[in-house]
Amino acid sequence: MDARRRLQTVVAAGPEPNTPSTWPVPWGATTTLIQDYAALVYRVCLHWPLFKEVLGNISNNLPTNVSNMFGAKNIYNPETGVPDLTGKVAIVTGGNAGLGKNSVLEFARHGAKVYMASRTESRARQAIEEVIAQVPNAQIEYLHLDLTSLESINQAADEFISKESQLHILLNNAGVMAMASELTKNGFDIQWGTNYIGHALLTKLLLPTLIKTAQNSPKNSVRVVNVTSEAHRGSRLGINFADTALATSSKLSRYAHSKLANLLHAKALAKRYSEHGITAVSCHPGVVFTDLYVPFTSSLGFLGSAISWPLKWFTASPKVGSYNQIALCTSPQVTTEDGGSYYIPVLKKSSPSAYGQDDTLADKLWEYTEQQLRDRGY
Ligand SMILES: NC(=O)c1ccc[n+]([C@@H]2O[C@H](COP(=O)([O-])OP(=O)(O)OC[C@H]3O[C@@H](n4cnc5c(N)ncnc54)[C@H](OP(=O)(O)O)[C@@H]3O)[C@@H](O)[C@H]2O)c1
Repeated sequence: MDARRRLQTVVAAGPEPNTPSTWPVPWGATTTLIQDYAALVYRVCLHWPLFKEVLGNISNNLPTNVSNMFGAKNIYNPETGVPDLTGKVAIVTGGNAGLGKNSVLEFARHGAKVYMASRTESRARQAIEEVIAQVPNAQIEYLHLDLTSLESINQAADEFISKESQLHILLNNAGVMAMASELTKNGFDIQWGTNYIGHALLTKLLLPTLIKTAQNSPKNSVRVVNVTSEAHRGSRLGINFADTALATSSKLSRYAHSKLANLLHAKALAKRYSEHGITAVSCHPGVVFTDLYVPFTSSLGFLGSAISWPLKWFTASPKVGSYNQIALCTSPQVTTEDGGSYYIPVLKKSSPSAYGQDDTLADKLWEYTEQQLRDRGY
């Protein structure tokens, strides 16, 4: 009998003996509701393996477009999907947690030397230990990088260039979401500065190495992958060049704004550097309940805690959520001709918002960014 039928049988059999709904009611009618709720939770716990199987089947049978939004369950396997990366060098920003950490793991597992470019060193050291526990011969180096500081980004690029002459994979993955208004050391809104400007400078400083690597490698070996989000669609007025801090907008609007910029940056990069052998694309990982959501859920107080539990259970795991970016960084299927494309899980080209398709806007963002960086000495 399939899981759904078995569950129906369990439900039809009625409440188990001694469930919370049969416990004595010492006070008013509302207690009954609480008891019913407790009885439901009790039943779910009692039959959890069965519930989990049914939920898993539901999520696997959702229309592809819907299930893709929630991650790449059962549609990609990095063990077989990632080719041998021996001799390749990768940088993963935000590699010490969430999607970045699993990307580091898979690159290292397949033989690449990986630089875990992260801000919080203690978390990075811990993450490196965890990866090495799974991949004992992993080659991983910590690279200190604080994307809120252009100086730190410059130092990270210098340190990398002093150690390596090649860079095959630059995964611009680090990010923050729903942060309260705050300016970075260089005067950018925290989300705009971390998610977009920081990565734009890092990429710019590493471009000579990326280009040199492409010249000395087989075609389509060099990738820049920007992790954006379906949330880019929330940037309803495109890019506000006059006020990138979006002082009067919500935290989530500012996140959407920065993610639209990540997407357009990959487009602009591809336009300028595809002919140099660089494949630049952007991707949405799926919805994955990582630490990214903490500023958002904690700002909601009790409601935040209440939605955290279902979010954790109904969204993809960080492992599954990292599949799209891992595939884009490594799959032989992705070529320079795909430059500028936007992908949803896994390896599926998707149409971004109208602003995300706007080449003129991408050019304007490129010029704006160059000017901002020049003004600050980069
Ligand atoms: N999770 C989702 O549902 C989802 C959906 C769409 C898009 N995305 C995108 O996926 C990417 C990865 O997110 P995630 O879910 O893996 O989040 P996460 O678990 O919170 O990880 C974020 C990473 O970014 C790093 N980071 C934050 N601020 C930094 C800074 N100033 N300098 C350097 N590193 C910094 C963090 O390192 P520290 O330890 O130093 O803080 C951490 O390693 C983000 O770009 C996010 O926008 C995620």
